[in-house]
Amino acid sequence: MKAVILAGGSGTRLHPLTLVTNKHLLPVFDKPVIYYAIEKLVDAGVTKIMVVTAPHHIDSFVRLLGSGQHFVPKRTTAKQIQIVYGIQNEPNGIAYGLFIAEDYIGKDNCVLFLGDNIFLDDITPTIQKFKKGASVFLKEVRDPKRFGIAAVKRGKITSIEEKPAKPKSNFAVTGLYIYDNTVFKKIRKIPPSERGEYEITDVNKLYLEEGSLHFNLLKKEWFDIGTVDSLHKASQFMKKQTRK
Ligand code: TTP
Repeated sequence: MKAVILAGGSGTRLHPLTLVTNKHLLPVFDKPVIYYAIEKLVDAGVTKIMVVTAPHHIDSFVRLLGSGQHFVPKRTTAKQIQIVYGIQNEPNGIAYGLFIAEDYIGKDNCVLFLGDNIFLDDITPTIQKFKKGASVFLKEVRDPKRFGIAAVKRGKITSIEEKPAKPKSNFAVTGLYIYDNTVFKKIRKIPPSERGEYEITDVNKLYLEEGSLHFNLLKKEWFDIGTVDSLHKASQFMKKQTRK
């Protein structure tokens, strides 16, 4: 299984912090945001990762991460972590960011990891068991109107809605997805949304229509570093964790 970490976007909600740098390079306690995604994937046994970002930030990521040599875990048998880079010319959507990695993924399945998300749960079993369809990670939230929300009935997702006015559940769809290779065909099918972006929710809806959208429920903390507030909360949490 290969992975794609998205580290593009505009980061407008974090202005002025992101006027000259990229959101994924900002610190969460003692590490840049993107480290958490890489470490989570490496812990789950994923050794081949493409980081996709904007042309004007690519050099910063290469300087920071290089070939991935610093991320080889000492306690496993993996000899090498290989990080490569993809360029997304415009922030025209998460689905488009993944599409850039089509040739890199080849015939493999893939993990799509939004680089501004931090997960505490172990994702290893889900990645290792994955065979086909799509698998999303849901997290119960207090303010469902702010998220993509999945309604669940008898253990199955029945609908997904983006920032619903009347949410059918409290289960937010987080920034981690596992897809089989049909994902690229599906991305080709979707039109851009009203805001001009290729939406990952539309891709997930195609899996839902096919009856192959599965889910996992996250039990531990999850952070989505979109705002100054969430950046702060995540930093404070990580500081406490390291003291334990
Ligand atoms: P968002 O937080 O939805 O968007 P953003 O990062 O542009 O921020 P803002 O809304 O404050 O302007 O992005 C979620 C993740 O997806 C984040 O890790 C950036 C990434 N992303 C891309 O890599 N390419 C894109 O085209 C978009 C829209 C997002």
